[in-house]
Amino acid sequence: MTESAHTAQAAPPAQSAFRAPLLTFNGDPAHAPNAVVFHEDGLLIVEDGRVIAADAYAALASRLAPGTQVVERRDKLIVPGFIDTHIHYPQTDMIASPAPGLLPWLDTYTFPTERRFADIAHARDTASFFLDELLACGTTTALVYCTVHKESADALFAESEARNLRMVAGKVLMDRHCPEFLRDTAQSGYDDSAELIGRWHDRGRQMYALTPRFAPTSTEAQLEACGALARLHPDVFIQSHVAENTDEVEWVAELFPGHRSYLDIYDHYGLLRRRAVYGHCIHLDDEDRKRMAQTGALASHCPTSNLFLGSGLFDFEKADSAGMPIALATDVGGGTSFSMLQTMNEAHKVARLGGHHLTATRMFYLATTGAAEALDLADKVGTLRDGSEADFVVLDPQATPLLARRTARRESLEELLFAFALLGDDRAVYETYAAGKRVHRRDDARQHVPGRAKIAA
Ligand code: GUN
Ligand code: ZN
Repeated sequence: MTESAHTAQAAPPAQSAFRAPLLTFNGDPAHAPNAVVFHEDGLLIVEDGRVIAADAYAALASRLAPGTQVVERRDKLIVPGFIDTHIHYPQTDMIASPAPGLLPWLDTYTFPTERRFADIAHARDTASFFLDELLACGTTTALVYCTVHKESADALFAESEARNLRMVAGKVLMDRHCPEFLRDTAQSGYDDSAELIGRWHDRGRQMYALTPRFAPTSTEAQLEACGALARLHPDVFIQSHVAENTDEVEWVAELFPGHRSYLDIYDHYGLLRRRAVYGHCIHLDDEDRKRMAQTGALASHCPTSNLFLGSGLFDFEKADSAGMPIALATDVGGGTSFSMLQTMNEAHKVARLGGHHLTATRMFYLATTGAAEALDLADKVGTLRDGSEADFVVLDPQATPLLARRTARRESLEELLFAFALLGDDRAVYETYAAGKRVHRRDDARQHVPGRAKIAA
């Protein structure tokens, strides 16, 4: 190699910068007095896909590299990308399917819909639409259930990798109490999960989650095998459902008579720990809540799903006072919206019914930094801290005439966030950025509607 090749200077990395109101968190606003970090006139500087600085414009402007163009978003609000901690991508096409509760809904709609994911082309197409829908809602990280087919996980990861998104996903484990066409075995589920971990966990921004669907659809042998894989891979995620519906809870008690509670089954197989994420957690008792807190397992509160399926009301107050990690999730297709803003709307009302006032500031924390902290991902996503991956959302307070009128009269940051939570949805998401690149712009979003339904004359 010549001397000049050794000493040649690489071109300085391209910077981008955004001047806008900035909101991020240092901790939980319910517990830490200085948790909320808000700059009315802020500057966010991004380089090579990472945040290199976020602060007041006046404090940072001098650090801008010469020639950096500043994107003006002063009438918007920049927040970290939303994190949806529980969602099923194969259920995209069956969202809003009515049924009298969870178990009939699974039998009537969910299992037949998931059958189609044996077809890799269908899986890729659905994964692509699903990720675009998440981005249109400002969600840049999600914990995603695939189907029992390992190809369904390959499809989701491939589409996520193509967009350079940080996603956590896993193939469902299910070896009983489901149709034959969706059944794996303890051995094949173990082998497929191990293969997918090898292929995808920590490849770029992709991460794997062991995904036993819920206790009723796994034999003891399968839960045992899952626990063994979890021990082999302590940094891999675990996701499942627990205590969602009273019929389900009774069924579990019949299937696993030796256990103190539904949650205790997962505990017994070594499936409660950090990075273990349990959807719903509605019908838990105090002992269960204590175990969630002790083990650091995360409760995913899915209010739109719980209201839609009539599953029950998550007790925010009890979960919070037990010290359980809590985050928010859509649970599409049981959930009725991809939007974490709409999820906050319903979470607020569910908490209200329990006599608890869940502030918008807290809900924005739970949907961003709080989720990232509970998932041990806060060094990567969920904040605007220096060095973190530049996943962020530009929210538009004037997205609709009503939002514009309401936010024009706001008297505090809490009122602004409350208006976004109660009145906002994908229309309020002006732009979404992942690893510093714009991956959604509302005003030129997809117009085409595949398979537009024909309305009978
Ligand atoms: N419990 C087991 N599977 C599912 C599912 O797909 N959705 C919901 N909401 N609950 C479940
Ligand atoms: Zn679910």
